[in-house]
Amino acid sequence: MPKSPDTAITQIARNNSGARIELDRVTKTYPNQPVSAVENFSMVAEPGELIMFVGPSGCGKTTTMKMINRIIEPSSGSISIDGRDVLSLNPNELRRHIGYVIQQIGLFPHMTIAENIAVVPQLLGWSKEKIRSRIDELLTTVELDPAAFATRYPKQLSGGQQQRVGVARALAADPPVMLMDEPFGATDPITREKLQ
Ligand SMILES: Nc1ncnc2c1ncn2[C@@H]1O[C@H](COP(=O)(O)OP(=O)(O)OP(=O)(O)O)[C@@H](O)[C@H]1O
Ligand SMILES: [Mg+2]
Repeated sequence: MPKSPDTAITQIARNNSGARIELDRVTKTYPNQPVSAVENFSMVAEPGELIMFVGPSGCGKTTTMKMINRIIEPSSGSISIDGRDVLSLNPNELRRHIGYVIQQIGLFPHMTIAENIAVVPQLLGWSKEKIRSRIDELLTTVELDPAAFATRYPKQLSGGQQQRVGVARALAADPPVMLMDEPFGATDPITREKLQ
């Protein structure tokens, strides 16, 4: 019997050591654009592997990442996670299991730092205590004192501090896949090295 999309995703989520991501001849072409944003791109990321895209502005790094969690759909080619085509998975479920730090930080302005980090754990039904201790742990990891920052709003933080919260939020549910789009661009070199 075919597995339902949700079953498939739960299996990905359980794989804490990571997931295998395969892109096969992926192309993204926008209407009325003579040049593809991404053209015939193939790669494999083995579980636990760290891969970085390096290339000039506009070469397609962000577009490629957004296709992995289906914020953008490819024009042709296929993308699979642990052997399952991402187009066959429920996009909302898929994104709950992929940590994503977007290039423009993108914290929710009306939520405190703690609430921002808690978004995915809450969707996954974690207990209040588990969420609270995870928030403390993550803020400490990105070198922000929980007592000072948890109840503040994003606009009360510097750009580099906001970016670190973005990373903490993406790590919150310990997802098997993490997509980070220039997550440390607004932090100074010393802080960046520590975080990495
Ligand atoms: N909605 C869109 N419509 C048309 N073209 C687009 C659209 N979004 C992106 N592009 C084009 O696709 C190309 C790839 O963009 P992308 O954002 O992936 O670049 P990038 O490698 O992440 O660049 P940067 O280093 O500046 O972040 C660019 O030339 C961009 O202008
Ligand atoms: Mg980009």
